[in-house]
Amino acid sequence: MIRHIVVAVDASPSSDNAVEMAVDLARSYGAKLSFLNVIRDMQLPESVLRMAEVEHIQGARSDVLRFVGEKTLKQAERKAREIDPKMEIEKRVAVGDPASEIADFAKKTKADLIVIGTRGHGELKGMFLGSVSRKVSNLAQVNVMIVR
Ligand SMILES: Nc1ncnc2c1ncn2[C@@H]1O[C@H](COP(=O)(O)OP(=O)(O)OP(=O)(O)O)[C@@H](O)[C@H]1O
Ligand SMILES: [Mg+2]
Repeated sequence: MIRHIVVAVDASPSSDNAVEMAVDLARSYGAKLSFLNVIRDMQLPESVLRMAEVEHIQGARSDVLRFVGEKTLKQAERKAREIDPKMEIEKRVAVGDPASEIADFAKKTKADLIVIGTRGHGELKGMFLGSVSRKVSNLAQVNVMIVR
């Protein structure tokens, strides 16, 4: 039985396809949807992050990224509601390593399925999976559907 589906949303074309697929599944199973966007942690040493100037910029950066994350989620919700206005949808912004956050969130919320795109906004084109979808399929303890 599929009751709760987590969708990893980053506003890329395959993430949009993942949203459509997840809405379809949620409708057939009567499942609830959670849309999750993860703000990537700044990859700098702690000591550098604590410098006053960096703290200031980091704050501004995370405000912008949170704004973009929320906007991304709203767009996904709008897309979902075009298909079915009555869908039960929760939207969530998390901070950290995207794949770990997605896998952790699915575990914590006892999701039955993660739906994720093959590719995101990364530069690398071609036949390969993006690093987030690859890492989620390695890490997650629930089933993962990777949508093209
Ligand atoms: N920050 C994020 N928050 C939520 N979901 C994400 C995030 N980044 C990626 N995803 C999900 O993972 C899917 C694959 O994206 P991924 O980032 O793995 O590919 P990429 O950007 O092409 O490659 P890479 O990031 O390795 O350069 C996306 O379609 C989306 O569903
Ligand atoms: Mg990416």
